[in-house]
Amino acid sequence: MATDPNELLARARECLDRAYAPYSRFHVAAAVVDDRGRVFTGVNVENLSYGLSMCAERVAIFAAIAAGARRISAVAVAGSGADLLSPCGACRQVLAEFAAADVPVYCDAPGGPHRWTVSELLPHGFAASRLGKG
Ligand code: THU
Repeated sequence: MATDPNELLARARECLDRAYAPYSRFHVAAAVVDDRGRVFTGVNVENLSYGLSMCAERVAIFAAIAAGARRISAVAVAGSGADLLSPCGACRQVLAEFAAADVPVYCDAPGGPHRWTVSELLPHGFAASRLGKG
């Protein structure tokens, strides 16, 4: 089952060596599941003009959206470091666009997967209701 935390993290981890991170040398990979059970993966892609770099989470989310997905039901993130990795603020806001508040985000950690929900990662986020859109 693709939403099993360990299986989804394994899908992310197997992409880690495809990260393009010559500047930070910090590899990150993500796997997202859409509402049809499809799994999409992404890695961080850096650029010499540092600000143009893109996080693994957003690469995975955008791949899902480009393939026709509109809702994401689970996320896993793995990093090359030993410590618990948690998604950056920009990725949290992008994730909140496509994932419900209770969607799990599994992050690789030394003692096993750490589980947050989208709303735990982005409490009081900018919401569509602010624009009268939901
Ligand atoms: N990075 C991610 O891909 N995801 C995160 O959640 C945090 C940071 C990337 C961006 C950059 O390529 C490298 O990790 C170091 O910040």
